[in-house]
Amino acid sequence: MVKINSDYTLLRSSYLFSTIAGKVKEYEQNNPDANIIRLGIGDVTRPLTGTIIDSLHKAVDEMASESTFRGYAPDLGYEFLRSAIARNDYELRGCDISADEIFVSDGAKSDSGNIQEIFSKDCRVAVCDPVYPVYVDTNVMAGRAGTYDEESGKWSNIIYMPCTRETGFLPEIPSETPDIIYLCFPNNPSGSTMTKSRLQEWVDYAVRNKAIIIFDAAYESYIRNEDVPHSIYECEGARECAIELRSFSKNAGFTGVRLGFTVIPKTLSVDGVTLHSLWARRHGTKYNGAPYIVQRAGEAVYSEEGKKEIRGLVDYYMNNATYILNGLKAAGYEVSGGVNAPYIWLKTPKGMSSWEYFDYLLKNASVVGTPGSGFGPSGEGYFRLTAFGDADKTKEAVDRIVNM
Ligand code: MLT
Repeated sequence: MVKINSDYTLLRSSYLFSTIAGKVKEYEQNNPDANIIRLGIGDVTRPLTGTIIDSLHKAVDEMASESTFRGYAPDLGYEFLRSAIARNDYELRGCDISADEIFVSDGAKSDSGNIQEIFSKDCRVAVCDPVYPVYVDTNVMAGRAGTYDEESGKWSNIIYMPCTRETGFLPEIPSETPDIIYLCFPNNPSGSTMTKSRLQEWVDYAVRNKAIIIFDAAYESYIRNEDVPHSIYECEGARECAIELRSFSKNAGFTGVRLGFTVIPKTLSVDGVTLHSLWARRHGTKYNGAPYIVQRAGEAVYSEEGKKEIRGLVDYYMNNATYILNGLKAAGYEVSGGVNAPYIWLKTPKGMSSWEYFDYLLKNASVVGTPGSGFGPSGEGYFRLTAFGDADKTKEAVDRIVNM
């Protein structure tokens, strides 16, 4: 008789953002006149820019002609895109990463969920707490997380690294030694950042302990401060211990288009096996690549005009971040993030729990945010607002919150 993968039954009932969407839908049905402003999920709202749209149109036209039509994409992605990434994201930042160490994909969410497949089920995983839920959920699905304890909100086999006000919302080296360490900086959800010297300590730690860092750099284009690294490969030794995940969603607005990439240096090996060869094998077997037209759009992101437009998008969202940060601060909220990241992390007022504040905000201001506890136990008592909304609506949301 067929059996299901029982590890799936261990998962919490639904993905965090699906739970929120369900609650908002119910509220909307009960309050049809409510003018809801959504600052919950980190989904972009600005349209794709002109250069990207032109490249998409051009690529679509190419698909209509026999001489320029393209079928399956190469396993690792088209050379034109991988070269543009290697040059702009790595060479120009002084990082030693070549085009054939880049795997193009349909986005960082799937890569961050799938990457754990190439590691043994016995590996101990360490995550920041709070954390982007995909890292934990996919390790639960893989049977690597152990059992869930309702009271602590923790999985028995996962090592949690609390990122609290006391630690500046940064992780500290854990007392137990992990095999796989997930780091996301600029951070989702707290918007905190790590300086290069701090990240170097993690790289040194991983090399010393033969651990692998999975570094999610999806928000690197929001970095403003000079001492914050855009890539983990800016640190010495990272080629020996780190995999990097990148996205076109947050910088270029590709959440609905889908494009990302993963970098695995060829020098990264475990017991004499290169992780590059394992991921290439997986990619070849399970994946037929991001669509040609989307990869052409990705290439356009690196054109001179494209870069200018993308900076405009990021600036637009960062103006929102500044408005939220300053507005809430002036109203007496304890807030952080929002300086090198599109997320603002606030302490819930009056001792409310994260979900109590979610309901309170929805009911009294018709504003949707994300409860901090949805990202892990140390997120309890906190709340995340995203800067990815429309500028006018964002201002209105802040005004409503401060006037509640
Ligand atoms: C978020 O809101 O945390 C992001 O949208 C998640 C994602 O990029 O998948």
